[in-house]
Formats: sequence, C-alpha cells, structure tokens
Amino acid sequence: MKPLLCVVVFFALALADISSDLNNLIRSPNASSPSAYFIPEQIIFSRGRHAVCASGKIQVPITAQNIRFTTQVPPSQFAVTAIVQEILQYDASLIQKSIAGTQIVQGTYGIFAKLCYPAQFASAAQVKSIQILTHGSGLEKSYWDIASPNNSYVDAAAKAGYATLAYDRLGAGQSDRPDPINVIQSAVQVEILEALIQGVRTGTLGIQKFNTVICAGHSYGQIIQTGHDAKYPASCSAVLATGISDTTQYLVPETFALNPTIASQADPARFGSLNNAFLINPTPVSVHLPFFRYPYFDPAVFQKVFDTRSTYTIGEIFTAIAILSPAPAFTGPVAVINGQFDIPFCGGDCAQRPSAYRATFYPAAVNSTAQVIPNTGHVINGHITAPQAFSQLLEFLKKNNL
Ligand SMILES: *[C@@H]1O[C@H](CO)[C@@H](O)[C@H](O)[C@H]1NC(C)=O
Ligand SMILES: *[C@@H]1O[C@H](CO)[C@@H](O)[C@H](O)[C@H]1NC(C)=O
Ligand SMILES: *[C@@H]1O[C@H](CO)[C@@H](O)[C@H](O)[C@H]1NC(C)=O
Repeated sequence: MKPLLCVVVFFALALADISSDLNNLIRSPNASSPSAYFIPEQIIFSRGRHAVCASGKIQVPITAQNIRFTTQVPPSQFAVTAIVQEILQYDASLIQKSIAGTQIVQGTYGIFAKLCYPAQFASAAQVKSIQILTHGSGLEKSYWDIASPNNSYVDAAAKAGYATLAYDRLGAGQSDRPDPINVIQSAVQVEILEALIQGVRTGTLGIQKFNTVICAGHSYGQIIQTGHDAKYPASCSAVLATGISDTTQYLVPETFALNPTIASQADPARFGSLNNAFLINPTPVSVHLPFFRYPYFDPAVFQKVFDTRSTYTIGEIFTAIAILSPAPAFTGPVAVINGQFDIPFCGGDCAQRPSAYRATFYPAAVNSTAQVIPNTGHVINGHITAPQAFSQLLEFLKKNNL
C-alpha cells in the first residue's frame, strides 16, 4: 500500500510541475513574440494521460510562393465532382490549364496546436527532444492521439520521453480557413511547418529551446514534410515518414474512393459556414475504403477517426503532387513506415515501397530504416498494430540518440 501511495504522490507532484511550466507558457505571454502563447489557453491530457498538454491557437506569420489558379469556388456538388473526374482522368490537364501564374501569400494564420510534455518528468527542462506531427488530408491533429491505450502516438512518445507538437494544418481541424483555392495550398503548409520548427528551435514557441527537432508526417502531411525538407534540408534533425511511398499512381483510385464532397453539405453542423471549395469524405465507407483494412481495426477507434475527419481544399488537391520533390540535401536519419495494405500510396500491397521512398526522396539520409507494418491500412495509427508501428519509430530514434 505504502509504496503505491508514494508513486501516486510523486506522479501528482511531477504533473503539477510540468503543468505549471505549461501554465507559465500560456498565462504570461511574451508580448514581443505573439506566437509564444496559446489561446484559448487550456491544459489537457493526452488520451492515455502519459502527456500533459497546452492546447490552443497560436499565431504563425508566413510568406509563401503559391500558385494563382483561375478556378472559381464550385457552385454545386455536380461542379466539384466534375473537377474530381477531370483531374483524375488518364490524360488530365485541368490543373495545368487552371494555372494563371504565381503569387506571394503573406499573412499571419491561427494554427490550433497541442504542445505535450511527458507527465513523468518533474520539469520541462528534463525533456531534450520534441517531435512535430503533421497529419494527412481529411483528418486533423487528433490522428496522433486517437484513443487510449494503444492508438495514441502522443502517449507512446511521451512514455519514451519526447515532447510533441501536433497541429491542425491550415484549413483543417480548428485552424484558420482562409481562401481554400489560392491561399490554402501546399507551399503555405510548408512555410507553416518551417515556422513551427523554428519556433521550437528558438524558443519563441513553447517553454524552451529545442536543439533536437524530429519531424513526423503522415500521408499528405508527409508530402508537405518532403517538400519542406527539399527547401529546408537543415531544419529537421530526423524525419519519421509514415503512410507514404515512392509512387503517386494509386492516388487516382484513392481519390475516387474518398468521394470528395462539399463539407458544408455533408456535415452542416460542423462545416455549414464554409464555401464549396472545402471538401470532406462524407461517409464511413469513404473513410474505410481508402484508409482502413478490415478486420485489423477496432470499430470504436474507426468511429473516432470518422467523427474527427476534417476538411481539405481544392487548392491543396491542385498543389499536392507538385510539392513532392526529393530532398537530396537532407542528411539526417529517416525512418519510413507504411501499412501492408495501404491503398493511396501502395495500391493495396506495400512490399518494397517504403525502402524505395527512402532511396528516392532522401537519397543522402544516414542510419535510415524502412518497414512495412503487417495487417495495417493507410491510417496506421487507427489499426490494432499501432503499438508495433510506434515502437519501431521510437526504437529508431533511440538507436540514433535522438
Ligand atoms: C521575451 O521576449 C524578449 C524580447 O524578445 C526576450 O529577450 C525574452 O527572452 C523572452 N522571454 C521568454 C520567456 O521567451
Ligand atoms: C493493446 O495492445 C496490447 C499489446 O500490443 C494488447 O495486448 C491489448 O489487447 C491492446 N488493447 C486494446 C484495447 O486493443
Ligand atoms: C548514426 O548512428 C550512429 C550510431 O548508431 C551515431 O553515432 C551517429 O551519430 C548517427 N548519425 C546521425 C547523423 O544521426
């Protein structure tokens, strides 16, 4: 009885200290660096309570070179479906024909983020590394913290001693939703990611400066990550590339399977105020078909992913492939994992695709690894095998002293 009590008391004390570090962060904003604080300030736990987190919107100033498209907000679902058909047809030229030039986008955008610290530590200063987590298309940052005990990467990383910063990409979750055709594009997402990395490196975002910043991306989030690493090869200390491969050919059947639907029509309660260029996967089948493999998931976990699915935009769809370029100057370690049955990037059979992705997109990466997770679909964190995927990534980091 007594030792147990000690453990409980110690845990509570440790928690109180980390919480007070986080409270300082959100209650005494540093006026000279607006991105330093979270609004509304909220201290919450990760699903499994292994991490304590500050959650809220941070203001992120960026400048990006976007594409200027002539495309107008579609007047109806018929018009959206016609766009989808045209960009997926075998001799597609719609995107190319819609380009009117480039444009500089300069602005400060509200990004909803969750900065989590391991609850096991007495103070934030004990944490040496942070992981920045970029979710894929159609989901939001809760992808990294779906359910306890087995489907939260935030918990797994906290148990292994890492802080994490999961954020809703611009246009998804609770982040801002500016112009979905000419502002919310892949180049803007790259600059937001870079701003967050520099924020935690310099300490203008969060509690402390981090010298080790590990970058994890899933699916379209990893496409953004790759585009980022091509432009900013010295920025991330290591990359955890998940739900990705060396080919984009299977994005055609995947995108049909998504059934891209006007978000305000598919889910008026959540998205009623958005214009018709914000899209969503409308039904459970449109999430299952491209993302999950039955029977290798818990239906309750699937339901959580379905309930938190979020918006993607025409601007992102039009610029997704263009941003995906190799990062030959990235020389850190890269771990690649994908589910055996991934549809979007493997056409349902992953085999050697993760290692081909590593070789093609990160040719100069050192100490790298590429793995296929058996009995798993594209949304890796939502499958029963998630703990196996998490331990492969975390063991990889440990092996590299990160
Ligand atoms: C607040 O901003 C000032 C001026 O930029 C800086 O010197 C100081 O270190 C910052 N404090 C914190 C806690 O970030
Ligand atoms: C969580 O994972 C462990 C081992 O990986 C397994 O034994 C357990 O049944 C899983 N729990 C749930 C609720 O899926
Ligand atoms: C590669 O791994 C070795 C040990 O396994 C380590 O000493 C070295 O720092 C690693 N290189 C990089 C760039 O992480």
